[in-house]
Amino acid sequence: MNQNIINRQVILKSRPDGIPQLDNFQLVQQQIDPLNDGEVLLKTIYLSLDPYMRGLMSQAMAETETWYTDRLELGDTIVGGTISRIVDSRHPDFQIGDLVSSFSGWQEYQVSDGTGLIKLDKNTEHLSHALSLVGMTGFTAYHGLLNIGQPKVNETVVVASATGAVGSVVGQIAKIKQAYTVGIAGGEEKCRYAVEVLGFDQCIDHKSPDFKQRLTEALPNGIDVYFENVGGAVFEAVQPLLNNYARIPVCGVVAHYNANKLPEGPNRIPQLMIEIISKRLHIQGFLINDHYEQYYEQFKKDVNQWIAEGKLSIKEEIVDGIENAPQTFIHLLSGQNFGKVLIKVSEE
Ligand SMILES: NC(=O)c1ccc[n+]([C@@H]2O[C@H](COP(=O)([O-])OP(=O)(O)OC[C@H]3O[C@@H](n4cnc5c(N)ncnc54)[C@H](OP(=O)(O)O)[C@@H]3O)[C@@H](O)[C@H]2O)c1
Repeated sequence: MNQNIINRQVILKSRPDGIPQLDNFQLVQQQIDPLNDGEVLLKTIYLSLDPYMRGLMSQAMAETETWYTDRLELGDTIVGGTISRIVDSRHPDFQIGDLVSSFSGWQEYQVSDGTGLIKLDKNTEHLSHALSLVGMTGFTAYHGLLNIGQPKVNETVVVASATGAVGSVVGQIAKIKQAYTVGIAGGEEKCRYAVEVLGFDQCIDHKSPDFKQRLTEALPNGIDVYFENVGGAVFEAVQPLLNNYARIPVCGVVAHYNANKLPEGPNRIPQLMIEIISKRLHIQGFLINDHYEQYYEQFKKDVNQWIAEGKLSIKEEIVDGIENAPQTFIHLLSGQNFGKVLIKVSEE
């Protein structure tokens, strides 16, 4: 059945040095082989673009394997979460037409033996939400905030990249939990959106020249929970404002992903270590893949209820065509995205 299907895929041509460039990627095509018994052919509908992919492309990752384990070699198809339709099947558990969440990466088709595929309801109203609000992004926000941050009523929660895919969900859940919420975002437009649409009590623009002073003024009672997505200058402004016993879920440090050397200036680690002791800080990193088994069912229940009650939403930035994945990824890593970034690879 799958004769003469040509698969277009984006491979890693060279490792980026700093912000990725278009020539680090290459669009290639190849014919799909006929299926063997036990295999299905997936046609990608949506592809999620996420900052972690930058780490998998880096030289340091290639040399050390200290972070995610599925690093990329030159010539590999870039990895990524996807929603796909089964368009051919020789697998007893999957029928043509089934929708699945998959990990097909930056390509239009994938042959799979069924491992890791999760069937989705064909009547799902917002299919793309399976990659955003009710998928990895939403789950990251939920787990990091509630299981590590543990905000209490009237505590102050500060969220980095507050209008981003993860940060926007963190802010809304913190509000549901009746915390006082302060977002940090790049630019006045994002900050307005954070307050007017996402419901943050305040939002401070980290690009403004007096950012540090404005953040300090916005937080007379300090910070009880700081949801870290960014690192860099944002964390430096946050650090002095942390209260005793503050909790810091360290989700990501996107400000450092393009770096190829340590920053200039004095070593700030000793000061941070002293504050971890004196303020009894709880700083915990996490990788969301460790937590699906334990918390995913509860997450789905809570999040679907909050969506139904109109308390939770997400802004998606959807770009058509696999050929546009590299440029859209560069746009995401340079902070130009506004919400969850997805590539629409084919029609629903
Ligand atoms: N631990 C896990 O398992 C896990 C899972 C998913 C995601 N993550 C992490 O969560 C974080 C957020 O991911 P996301 O998908 O939601 O991305 P995102 O926040 O939607 O997009 C990245 C945003 O980061 C901000 N940014 C980029 N460079 C910056 C800089 N130098 N200083 C300050 N802000 C900068 C930009 O927002 P502004 O314009 O507002 O600055 C940009 O829009 C990332 O660090 C990601 O790696 C971790």
